[in-house]
Amino acid sequence: ATYDLLVVNGIVATAADVGSYDIAIKDGKIVLLAPTGSLAGLATKKTIDAQGGYVMPGGVDAHVHLEEPALFGGKGTSADTFESGSRSAIAGGTTTIVAFAPQEKHEPSLLNALKQAQARASKAFYSDYSFHILVSTHGQQGLSEFPALREEGISSLKIYMTYEALQLRDSEILDILLAARTHGITTMVHAENGDVLNWMTNQLEANQLFAPKYHATSHPHLIESEATNRAIILSEIIDAPILIVHVSAPPAAKTIREAQTRGLPVYAETCPQYLFLTREDLDHPGFEGAKCVCSPPPRQKTDHDAIWNGLRNNTFTILSSDHCAFRYNDEERGKRSAISPEYPVGRFKYIPNGIPGVETRLPLVWNAGKLSPQKFVEVTSTNPARLYGLYPQKGALLPGVSDADLVIWYPSMSPFQLKNEMLHHNVDYTPYEGYTMTQWPRYTILRGQVVYDRDNGGVVGEKTYGKFVKRGSSSLPGPRSEGAWNVEAF
Ligand code: URP
Ligand code: ZN
Ligand code: ZN
Ligand code: ZN
Repeated sequence: ATYDLLVVNGIVATAADVGSYDIAIKDGKIVLLAPTGSLAGLATKKTIDAQGGYVMPGGVDAHVHLEEPALFGGKGTSADTFESGSRSAIAGGTTTIVAFAPQEKHEPSLLNALKQAQARASKAFYSDYSFHILVSTHGQQGLSEFPALREEGISSLKIYMTYEALQLRDSEILDILLAARTHGITTMVHAENGDVLNWMTNQLEANQLFAPKYHATSHPHLIESEATNRAIILSEIIDAPILIVHVSAPPAAKTIREAQTRGLPVYAETCPQYLFLTREDLDHPGFEGAKCVCSPPPRQKTDHDAIWNGLRNNTFTILSSDHCAFRYNDEERGKRSAISPEYPVGRFKYIPNGIPGVETRLPLVWNAGKLSPQKFVEVTSTNPARLYGLYPQKGALLPGVSDADLVIWYPSMSPFQLKNEMLHHNVDYTPYEGYTMTQWPRYTILRGQVVYDRDNGGVVGEKTYGKFVKRGSSSLPGPRSEGAWNVEAF
């Protein structure tokens, strides 16, 4: 047989192992994984010499907001389209992203939300992709559509405990968890107490405190830890698996860890912004701090250690970007839409929440050197694939089974300063401007095709190449009891 591609002389890292292996690829799949040198002489159309650099399964970013309407405070709508967001993803080593299909007021059908997202996505993705359904306050009639969503290859949804347009009551959350459990769907929960947040915000405004830094003041740890605790208890009542998204606060991480120790199917996600940014990044003269406004907000330097520890000790199952980008210099749809003549430093409550990060996720965390290669692959690729039903097609290098999705790093690189102009998103800033980098993906390979070649053309993939991937249910532990939920258990 003639292979399509050999990747030789790399240090192959998976969630399980690190070692010197060569890889043979045919028809978009990994077909051989063998000790370095042992594939020499095989017929192949193309060979990549990794020259001792790390070779890993391509990144899976399971939390990316693209082409979304104004949902997250103020008037902001997504800066990135499916096209620009997925282009940015592959340039940062990510080969699969899970974006969101939001349920909208005028169109409450969840199945239609999915179909509309799919129609817009077709031929607009550089990476492979799927969607989580974003269930809003118009949700209840959508519950009957869960079986149909499963047939379409969707096995997760996201709900919110905050944001005007999205916040659900506890009884609504219970309804969703029950239906999700019944149909093998994983529920992602944005755990912040919206009522307390609004009250805090009103207190600050009453004291004439409007600048971006008060976004952090209005979101203390307690807002997150209270909602995290409540979400866990609601999921325990139903015995339904949940994933707490974008955890930033050490007390919330502690609550999650205790639930896991009790054997509950409680999973958690964190993001680079909670490892690198601080609340001081919101505290700049004028409005500049709005660039780092996201929810939960960046915390203190002393909190970062607890989040790194949570990655190392399995409290956090996955590390995603929560890429939710708004342009800074855009008075209609971007961060500056929160400014008006009466409020020259804006009103923090109207700053659209979210920051870009789909391209910088892998490089920032790999550069930091604080996770072993196996742990890095586990939280950025393998576990998101397991949790969201993509494994082992994605997130693994199993011969004959896994897609040939790879990120290949440089054997070594001289340090350079990160600049927004190097990135491929449609955003006029990065929160990580000026960070010193000592690594960047050299090649990104999607189903056997080189889609990013940093030294020869950059993004060389095409936006017609990305495919919708049908997902099964999670391969991580689910409900503790078998069969249907039973009120008599209480
Ligand atoms: O600030 C954030 N995280 N914006 C994105 C929306 C969300 O809550 O995930
Ligand atoms: Zn969220
Ligand atoms: Zn600063
Ligand atoms: Zn998000």
